[in-house]
Amino acid sequence: MTKAADFNDRSLSLGLARVSEAAAIACTPLIGRGDEKAADQAAVDAMRTQLNKLDIAGVVVIGEGERDEAPMLFIGEEVGSGNGPGVDIALDPLEGTTLTAKDMPNALAVIAMGPRGSMLHAPDVYMDKLAIGPGYAEGVVTLEMSPTDRVAALAAAKGCTARDITVCVLERPRHEDMIAELRKTGAAIRLITDGDVAGVMHCAEPAVTGIDMYMGSGGAPEGVLAAAALKCMGGQILGRLLFRNDDERGRASKAGITDFDRVYTRDDLVTGDVIFAATGVTDGSLVSGIKREVGYVTAETILMRSKTGSVRRMIYRNPVS
Ligand code: FBP
Repeated sequence: MTKAADFNDRSLSLGLARVSEAAAIACTPLIGRGDEKAADQAAVDAMRTQLNKLDIAGVVVIGEGERDEAPMLFIGEEVGSGNGPGVDIALDPLEGTTLTAKDMPNALAVIAMGPRGSMLHAPDVYMDKLAIGPGYAEGVVTLEMSPTDRVAALAAAKGCTARDITVCVLERPRHEDMIAELRKTGAAIRLITDGDVAGVMHCAEPAVTGIDMYMGSGGAPEGVLAAAALKCMGGQILGRLLFRNDDERGRASKAGITDFDRVYTRDDLVTGDVIFAATGVTDGSLVSGIKREVGYVTAETILMRSKTGSVRRMIYRNPVS
């Protein structure tokens, strides 16, 4: 019988890195080729194949979509050999399909794994997100605060002025008012065109990335993946699901969500210890993208365990035929 105690995060972590590496490497011929769908498909196929080699009884809880929308790695799909611990898996084989197609920074292959019940089964709706790095008191910034107040509170906690704070925001028409308000505070804004898992992760290493805070709405599944990353790296994320219609509320109900207004903390989004791996597809501030040279491909992976807070960066070089 499988049980949560069987989840051996230490020995499973290298296998998890192989899974994200395989997905990222499969995108190699599609980086900068203008074909989002083909790049995504290559990542999905490779991630699934590699995942099925692991000795786990895995269930995809954050995946490519509902069973009727996604032929592979759909929510509820069972993955792994079946011989091993029961685990929940959150994945995004290609986080940043457009970034990959356009060869723009910070596209990642991402996967997180934990014991059964360790991650929120987030429906595919938007989530209002707010994230900061480690070292701040809990609740120093909140979703209820205005963008102006968030910047002021973080600057006070950091011991700097608003002008020394950099906020990362997805560049979308829906964020125009927020961006205009942030500009008035004097804070700098790092606008990204896609990829808010990386956007949130950047908050965990401000000295490297220059980003102090992430805010704005993006995919709820990406919110759970980002929470898994911060649970390992340190830092806070708050998220509230956003619903545009009854269909989206229906998706949430189906996922077992009853309180539609709930503000989730990092530890509500990811309740148990998890392992997390992300491999760079295109170059980014956290990991390099796939590099090709004659006869070889090289990939960099960030591999982390929340139980220990360990963060590894691993370079994998492999001959290609
Ligand atoms: P894809 O990799 O599926 O293209 O998603 C990228 C992404 O930018 C996410 O990082 C983000 O959460 C979401 O899309 C934002 O959604 P939208 O493009 O609808 O604003």
